[in-house]
Amino acid sequence: MDIERLRADTPGCATALHLNNAGAALMPRPVYEALTAHLAREYAIGGYEAKEEAEGRIAAVYDAVARLLGADASEIAIVENATRAFDLGFHSIPFEPGDVILTAVAEYASNYLAYLRAAETTGVVIRVVPDDEHGQLDLTALERALAEPGVGHRVRLVAVSHIPTHFGLIQPAAAIGALARRYGALFFLDATQSAGQLPLDVAALGCDLLCSTGRKYLRGPRGVGFLYVRGTPPGTAPPVHRSARRHLDRAPMNCAPMRAASRTGRRTSRPRSASARRSNTPSRSASPRSGRRSRGRRRRFGPDWPRSPA
Ligand SMILES: Cc1ncc(COP(=O)(O)O)c(C=O)c1O
Repeated sequence: MDIERLRADTPGCATALHLNNAGAALMPRPVYEALTAHLAREYAIGGYEAKEEAEGRIAAVYDAVARLLGADASEIAIVENATRAFDLGFHSIPFEPGDVILTAVAEYASNYLAYLRAAETTGVVIRVVPDDEHGQLDLTALERALAEPGVGHRVRLVAVSHIPTHFGLIQPAAAIGALARRYGALFFLDATQSAGQLPLDVAALGCDLLCSTGRKYLRGPRGVGFLYVRGTPPGTAPPVHRSARRHLDRAPMNCAPMRAASRTGRRTSRPRSASARRSNTPSRSASPRSGRRSRGRRRRFGPDWPRSPA
């Protein structure tokens, strides 16, 4: 890393000792210039026209985020912030009453609010795995919870924040992901404080879902976040529920790659049932979207569906 060049590219460094990168970092010149240039085009030719003009650059963002995570661009949704990304992923999981969510003591508060909401509305059970002597999630306790007779098989989700908001703890994410995978639970990593600060590789971390934001260690603007959702290898279960796909179909153009993946049927298999997960048998793939369903959608979304909204 060329620190001098990075500092020169960040004029804010000359006038401020800005240490609040866990909140929002000082943006570098290329980010500032890209934002202001785009705003100038919106000013000159209109928002949608400027967006069309920038299509190549917008697609490049999906590729860049995918490269950052070792993922495929079709597995990335760009949204408004990490909270939105987390909610989009979390609420797409088809929880059933009695399903268990395992999380850490240092979980991000607004993620925990989503768990409380799911407990209220769906009857999921939240269990907080205790810390070890270093303050990290205790891996032995996590494995005990995943293997607990009568309960372990109900663990649907293990969800932790990689680096909590308020201190420098780093959770042993890869070990957590490996345990979740071994016991058939989904692993959702909130990488909001780690993206840009630590290397992230979703395969090595064993993540099914990962969310983050642009404005912290990636030094992007506020108002940008992203969600990674593991794609669906043939014969396995997608973590994202059909209702989320419907949501993505209706979402604005910043979800285009996921919409495209949805349209090509890459995410059309059904979520695995709890019994299939327990027996670890591959789930059946759903048949591609039927003509009747497409016609119904076209009626709901207008005659030009499934084109991107203009
Ligand atoms: C761990 C963690 N998750 C989520 C968020 C929320 O990020 P955003 O404001 O982009 O929704 C934060 C914000 O500080 C955070 O530290």
